[in-house]
Amino acid sequence: MKSNIKDKLQKIDKEYYSLLIDIGKVSKDQGLKSYLVGGMIRDLLLNFDNLDIDIVVEDNAKQLADAIVKKFSNCELAARHDRFHTAKIIFNIDGKKIPIDLASTREEIYEHSAALPTVKVSDLKKDLYRRDFTINALAVSILPEDFGDVVDLFNGLIDLKEKKIKVLHELSFIDDPTRMIRAIRFACKLGFTIEENTQRLLKEAVESKQFDNLIEKIRGDRVKIEIRYLFNLPDIESAVKAFFDSGIYRMLSTDLNPRRDVVCNVSTGDNTSRQWLIHLALIIKDLNPEKQEKILKNLQMTGEEIKIIKDGFSAFNRLKEKEPVDSIEIYRELKNLSIESTLIVKLLPNTQDLIRNTLFDEYIEKTSKIKLEITGQDLITMGVKEGKRVGEILDKVLEMKIKNTQMNKNDEVAEAKKLI
Ligand code: CTP
Repeated sequence: MKSNIKDKLQKIDKEYYSLLIDIGKVSKDQGLKSYLVGGMIRDLLLNFDNLDIDIVVEDNAKQLADAIVKKFSNCELAARHDRFHTAKIIFNIDGKKIPIDLASTREEIYEHSAALPTVKVSDLKKDLYRRDFTINALAVSILPEDFGDVVDLFNGLIDLKEKKIKVLHELSFIDDPTRMIRAIRFACKLGFTIEENTQRLLKEAVESKQFDNLIEKIRGDRVKIEIRYLFNLPDIESAVKAFFDSGIYRMLSTDLNPRRDVVCNVSTGDNTSRQWLIHLALIIKDLNPEKQEKILKNLQMTGEEIKIIKDGFSAFNRLKEKEPVDSIEIYRELKNLSIESTLIVKLLPNTQDLIRNTLFDEYIEKTSKIKLEITGQDLITMGVKEGKRVGEILDKVLEMKIKNTQMNKNDEVAEAKKLI
């Protein structure tokens, strides 16, 4: 039976829906067939938000991109990669930028495993067949005459209903081993199970050992993207468990120790997008510094990301040397750290030590939020010369306030005066 999801598409943001209608019309005028593909369809059918618009064009994305840019003055061509037959256009709607990826329907030829494939223009069926899982291989027409019609050549709709992660062909993981991480990511995120044959293929791929220490051999940033998604999942306990139980951790490094003591109560407040760094740090914590360095380098981590992890490790080591520590010592070590580095320190071993743990919680929840009412300017007005000394005095007064949180502005001024 033919499925049509126009009703679901009508529920996405108005601007996005209108754009799909407009692009469909231009497509028809150009005699090209265009389809929405990828994660957006999957998520739409599962009632998740996803406004990542990926369109495939049978068979000329470049022609469609040019025609759209010509027709709409608020649309610009942001990128075009002729080698990959892709283009990115960006609409500007009342100041809001909406990017849309266009790609010609293509097939991928993997000359050898894990390498970047050679891309060749082909038809929709081959384009969908080259994808990772059946639930990600659905397409939806955006042409005016059949807008919303679902093209389901590999039973993706049934697998979505039955909550199954299933590869399209036997070589899927061999062609692209990052799909192994994707398999457990989607399983954890969506609460799906990995279908039996797919599980067998995953196990065989891991046990073949050909992907051991993979990040040393391929562009590690592709693995990093998947690790980031995996360890940013809300159900981090399942994510880390699956990462080790499946053996997929070996792609990162065969030196890793499978760990079961996953700490789940990590809260980075509203900003959860860097939570993955905390888990990566905890996973590599037992390796020697050279091995840690190698993994971070091979994953192509940015300087900022590496700093977050290393700051956490260094503060932890310094505090370990100073045992036993009090709230002031913890404050001194942690005051300049990001929340992620602070949580790395908190979650590293030794946190079974209850006193320390309580001090950390106190730091995160209370101490780090204590602020002085007096400012550097106040001190300058009181006669302190502008410079390093201002900061030193403020710091000392803050330490007093940490010990005595009842201090008000007058008390702060009084303490500062004693130090001048
Ligand atoms: N894809 C694939 N193999 C990969 C990565 C992606 O076959 N290693 C295909 C899938 O069909 C996927 C599409 O490319 O749906 C788009 O990839 P991406 O944007 O990375 O993932 P989404 O499925 O859109 O999901 P998410 O946004 O959650 O990453």
